[in-house]
Amino acid sequence: MKFESRTAFITGAAGRIGRALARELGGYGVKLYLADIDFEGVEKVCARLKKENIEAHPVKLNVTNDRQIVQTAKEVLTRAGRVDILVNNAGHWPKGSILDTDDDLWQGTVSLNLTGVFRVSRAFLPSMVKNGYGRIINLGSIAGEVGLPGYCAYSASKAGVIMLTKTMAMELASCGITVNSVSPGLIQDAAAPHRGTWLGRSGTGEEVARAIAFLASDDSGYITGVDLPVDGGRILGPKGADWRPPKTV
Ligand SMILES: NC(=O)c1ccc[n+]([C@@H]2O[C@H](COP(=O)([O-])OP(=O)(O)OC[C@H]3O[C@@H](n4cnc5c(N)ncnc54)[C@H](O)[C@@H]3O)[C@@H](O)[C@H]2O)c1
Repeated sequence: MKFESRTAFITGAAGRIGRALARELGGYGVKLYLADIDFEGVEKVCARLKKENIEAHPVKLNVTNDRQIVQTAKEVLTRAGRVDILVNNAGHWPKGSILDTDDDLWQGTVSLNLTGVFRVSRAFLPSMVKNGYGRIINLGSIAGEVGLPGYCAYSASKAGVIMLTKTMAMELASCGITVNSVSPGLIQDAAAPHRGTWLGRSGTGEEVARAIAFLASDDSGYITGVDLPVDGGRILGPKGADWRPPKTV
């Protein structure tokens, strides 16, 4: 994949997908600003990457705090000169059906998963528009595509992320900025068996990272407004009980 002297800002970078993405992009020589509310976590990630000769800077950021976001964007842009790739990855998935979701759970989930994407994008966009270049990748979820019972606020917040992505893609196309989302299915550290997916296993952070990296690369210039599921076929048609895989000779 091609990356022409690029700099990336990744939120939620201490987590499973963020860590894998940092290593993937860093391997292509992308300079990294790794943000997380868990500062010790991103410090550790940066220290590990440094041993692999990857340039990575830890940033403390709570994406639900707009003042912090504005200040952080200012500081990072001053230090880095430019940010070409923005990955809005921070998120959480608290349980709660419509019957047991109170206002705090609803607001907290929307504030982190959806408003966070909006605010962080808003803070970095003026400089991307000025540069005439940008790659924004937002983390959706298959829950935001087809719903997930028991995760009412989460599913709604991720549906919002996918639609915000498409709208941003249209609004920013003439500025040289592409905006896409990646929607993981069940992702774990090890590819554990998972009967609910057609591929029969859960995915790994590295597999999601590679999909994000492609959309972040210079090679994806004609792709915008796409939501890419990375889910082992989880949201394809149901796995019927009477289906038998073809016999191999
Ligand atoms: N893992 C999955 O199965 C899965 C499935 C679908 C979608 N996703 C999405 O992928 C993204 C990353 O998931 P993950 O599996 O790496 O999760 P994770 O829990 O491993 O990492 C999330 C990171 O976000 C950080 N974070 C939490 N609140 C924050 C805040 N207010 N400000 C800044 N950072 C904050 C956490 O400290 C953590 O490091 C999320 O948006 C998630 O919804 C994950």
